[in-house]
Amino acid sequence: MLISGRGSNLHAIIDATRDGALDADVAIVIANRAEAPGLQHARDAGIEAVCLSPRAYADRNAYDAAIADLLRARGVALVCLAGFMRLIGRPLLDAFPNRILNIHPSLLPAFPGLDAQRQALAHGVRVTGATVHLVDGDLDAGPIVSQSAVPVLDDDTVETLSARILIEEHRLYPAAIQRVLDGGWIVRGRRFVQMKTVDTRE
Ligand code: GRF
Repeated sequence: MLISGRGSNLHAIIDATRDGALDADVAIVIANRAEAPGLQHARDAGIEAVCLSPRAYADRNAYDAAIADLLRARGVALVCLAGFMRLIGRPLLDAFPNRILNIHPSLLPAFPGLDAQRQALAHGVRVTGATVHLVDGDLDAGPIVSQSAVPVLDDDTVETLSARILIEEHRLYPAAIQRVLDGGWIVRGRRFVQMKTVDTRE
């Protein structure tokens, strides 16, 4: 998992792996900031957690290649971004084609980028939510795996709306990870498509 901050989604995912809701192990947590609170949470849970500072690398490609090397060394099958505040570059995308997930606090393609909840309030939408999607080279783009809608209430503030979306995120992300790990899907154009299971018993 790649994080930059609080790590509440990381927390929810670790919990899901431990209570059996998600059949996976978090192999390693990487942050781009040593102060990311999520790092300590991972360590407290007995999970390897390291900071790789972009400043230690010549450029973005070198940084992304270093992340890819470390993830490969740990044998990870799926990379999950959770509040990782950097665009993912070619070396990492090519190392994990269609194997990088991100969660975003809006119903994409509405309100990509920073402050999605503030954008939703400013626009006046009645419904927003959370999206888990495969990561491609563009910001908050890529085929959508799962979405969950959250109504916007008349008296919502950025804080109250963000809190209700976050509850959905914590439910949505582990379920989406399980879905991706279970396989049986393809990407057709922009669409993440679940293949029908063929019953071969007859
Ligand atoms: C979440 O709202 C997520 O959707 C967005 O960044 C935030 C990360 O929160 N990409 P946390 O660090 O998981 O608590």
